[in-house]
Amino acid sequence: MDKEPRKLVFHSTPVIFLLILSLLYFVLFLVNFISFDQWKKNTSNSETIFNSGKVNNETLEEKQNSLDFLFSSLLSGEDQVKLKATGFACNTAIYSVHCVANQPVRIDTRTMTVYVPSDQPVQETVIKPYARQEDHSLLKIVTPVKILHGNTTPPVCQYNHEIPAMIFSSSGFVGNVFHEINEIIIPLYITTKNFQSRMLFVLEDYNPSFLSKYSKVISRLSSYEVMNPAANQSVHCFPGGVVGLKFHGHLSLNSSDVPKGHLMHDLRQFLRQAYNLKFSHVSQIKRPTLMLLSRRTSRRILNEDEMVAMMEELGFRVIVVARTKVVSNMNIFSNLINSCNVFVAAHGAGLTNELFLPDGAVMVQVDLLGLEWAGATYYGNPARAMGVHYLRYKVEPEESSLLKVFGRNHTVITDPRSVHDPLGKEAYLNGQNVRINLARFRETLVEALSLVGDSTL
Ligand SMILES: *[C@@H]1O[C@H](CO)[C@@H](O)[C@H](O)[C@H]1NC(C)=O
Ligand SMILES: *[C@@H]1O[C@H](CO)[C@@H](O)[C@H](O)[C@H]1NC(C)=O
Ligand SMILES: *[C@@H]1O[C@H](CO)[C@@H](O)[C@H](O)[C@H]1NC(C)=O
Ligand SMILES: *[C@@H]1O[C@H](CO)[C@@H](O)[C@H](O)[C@H]1NC(C)=O
Repeated sequence: MDKEPRKLVFHSTPVIFLLILSLLYFVLFLVNFISFDQWKKNTSNSETIFNSGKVNNETLEEKQNSLDFLFSSLLSGEDQVKLKATGFACNTAIYSVHCVANQPVRIDTRTMTVYVPSDQPVQETVIKPYARQEDHSLLKIVTPVKILHGNTTPPVCQYNHEIPAMIFSSSGFVGNVFHEINEIIIPLYITTKNFQSRMLFVLEDYNPSFLSKYSKVISRLSSYEVMNPAANQSVHCFPGGVVGLKFHGHLSLNSSDVPKGHLMHDLRQFLRQAYNLKFSHVSQIKRPTLMLLSRRTSRRILNEDEMVAMMEELGFRVIVVARTKVVSNMNIFSNLINSCNVFVAAHGAGLTNELFLPDGAVMVQVDLLGLEWAGATYYGNPARAMGVHYLRYKVEPEESSLLKVFGRNHTVITDPRSVHDPLGKEAYLNGQNVRINLARFRETLVEALSLVGDSTL
């Protein structure tokens, strides 16, 4: 009797074995099935398309399909439907306008005309490809691009390109780092990143110093030499094209705006790679290191030396950088600022360099009289989205040089919000210096120090 159950177990072993085997098979099949499904889903992601393209010897048709997907992702809603139906559509927002052609185009650089042939009646669209569409006087200096969509007879092709064209302008406010990054570099990243360097940039109002200043970024976004259309003067054929850059917000990315999914974190990672930056998080910087950006024209800090002495007394290693060649050399300056855990500057374009700070660093903006809105909109709010702590040092009338000029009861002092340009610009932006209240500023720096000391954001 004792042996019976054991025997039973023994006899049933093959059955159990078979059961386990079939279960295993089922599980494996299921896993396979899921991963295949996942893979199918992933192919709607551009990265996989290009990667799998490299592996699988992409056919021409597959290439066109993945391009179609990328073009389509640059638009949404009705614009996207229109692109699918007609091969061409534009989107106009407050700041940016961009047009997309997902079929062969011909660009005549002699007249900056883009031909998008189809059997429909011809429609003419003229756009100025610079992400500052609301500034009508600025747009006057941006060369227009004429797009002819429909039954046109384009000139004969002189050069054939296998990759799409991206047309934009380096006119506008080029020369000012905020505008360069805000209106060109970030929008260029947003618009072209998913194309995986497979776009030819056609740069209108070609500015060689802009190109060399940002060469490390631009050469990562396109593997091809940037074309100067004014110098080339010929007819080029492309499998598709984009005119104008998509803007998401001041020094910002919006992951729910098109093309969807771009994160500030990824942009900062991209910049770190482009400029070969050492630090991704403040905890990697052992000693409290502070950069003070020293302005030499307007918005100067008049007691800078005393301020630096106080910073050093607090334990900071202080790097003072004046607005010279160092600041405009992105390759050097991005590394310098990346080695700091605190960045101090009066309101101004130099604050754009907060982009290069490591995560968990602190940006202190000396917020001058009348510049509250601009300070928050352009630099303060974007800093937070970058994973950088933002501390605002609000200047009191007593610290501003404007108090002596206008007197305590003038609206320039009592109600900055009611002061409009040109007086506002003349006074607050161009006519203001500050003498910082060191005791009060010290408190801000102590807070900064405690934030980077405990650098777990
Ligand atoms: C890709 O396919 C084409 C045509 O089928 C063939 O000529 C070419 O050698 C292939 N290339 C690779 C890398 O397999
Ligand atoms: C124009 O562009 C084509 C193709 O990109 C290039 O081969 C040619 O040398 C350029 N011509 C001039 C005058 O720059
Ligand atoms: C981000 O984009 C979406 C979609 O266009 C828009 O509804 C939303 O307001 C944007 N968010 C910000 C902060 O601009
Ligand atoms: C400012 O106005 C107050 C009250 O309206 C007056 O007492 C004071 O003298 C004025 N100060 C100056 C500097 O004009």
